[in-house]
Amino acid sequence: MLVCQGRAAADGRAAAGRFADPVAARLLSAAERGPVDEVRAGTPPQGWRARTTYESVRACADVVVPRTVAIDEALRARVTGQLVILGAGLDTRAWRLPELSQTDVWEVDHPASQQDKRARIADAVRTEAGGPEEGDSGGRAGRTGPDGLPALARSVRFTPVDFAVDDLGAVLDTAGHDPAVPTTWLWEGVVPYLTRDEVRATVAALAARTAPGSTLIVNYQAPSAKAAAGRLLTRVLGSSLTAGEPWRSLWKPQRMAALLAEYGLRVVSDDDLLTLTHTFADPAGGRTSLRSGRVAVAESR
Ligand SMILES: C[S@@+](CC[C@H](N)C(=O)[O-])C[C@H]1O[C@@H](n2cnc3c(N)ncnc32)[C@H](O)[C@@H]1O
Repeated sequence: MLVCQGRAAADGRAAAGRFADPVAARLLSAAERGPVDEVRAGTPPQGWRARTTYESVRACADVVVPRTVAIDEALRARVTGQLVILGAGLDTRAWRLPELSQTDVWEVDHPASQQDKRARIADAVRTEAGGPEEGDSGGRAGRTGPDGLPALARSVRFTPVDFAVDDLGAVLDTAGHDPAVPTTWLWEGVVPYLTRDEVRATVAALAARTAPGSTLIVNYQAPSAKAAAGRLLTRVLGSSLTAGEPWRSLWKPQRMAALLAEYGLRVVSDDDLLTLTHTFADPAGGRTSLRSGRVAVAESR
């Protein structure tokens, strides 16, 4: 939800025209849009807790803009008939990228996250149709439905998976993914929350379903004392948005490249978010903590 708030806060205002996510705000409740509106207006709220939320959304926008721009541009350059989004969360690409009109999208996510997203997609339509708008996420209880906001992708298949427990290959098989034709795999904002073994197991599972001509786009975190200190501070301050999710694995670029190479995936680019920010913003600007976030693109041999 925080990532979605960050994208909504930056919609159309960042990256010199290269970033837009008009769908993000539509997936948020009125209460969740409050801090987004404050960040867009540049009006920090009074009160410590509200101010912490405001700063979290603002900082998140700084992170998601370069990574979204890099991923969207990599996706547009490599459109295939199958896109599998691992840990999709409130990813909006299937609803906002017209380049996916001939692509089937599998949104793979933890069952609890996915249930929440499906309710939000249904609510987005309700809101568009002028129906009552709920005040907070609690108002969504019981509202579910696979059909909602119309997708721009050829199809969207919600595929529940717990990476720590389930067999990703078997689940994708059942969901109709075809391992014999090229797939674009997208893995954004998830790797830090998995252990090294879970990351390896997921790479092995996707590699086993990766035909020649496929691509993996992976966002991960490299070790950084500065980023670790920033996260610790956020947890100590008790931000309700991020406090519950510890990072479990960090990867040096060489180690990530070596892991992918073991499974037949050759890294063709791997950039840190600060360098990416400098391609569309003031070369002297950007927080140095962005340097530890990375987006790598790897191609199957
Ligand atoms: C920070 S969100 C990122 C969402 C989205 N990819 C983005 O960048 O906006 C992390 C996502 O990873 C998923 N995730 C974390 N651990 C998982 C697990 N063990 N199995 C499945 N999904 C998991 C969560 O459900 C959540 O959707």
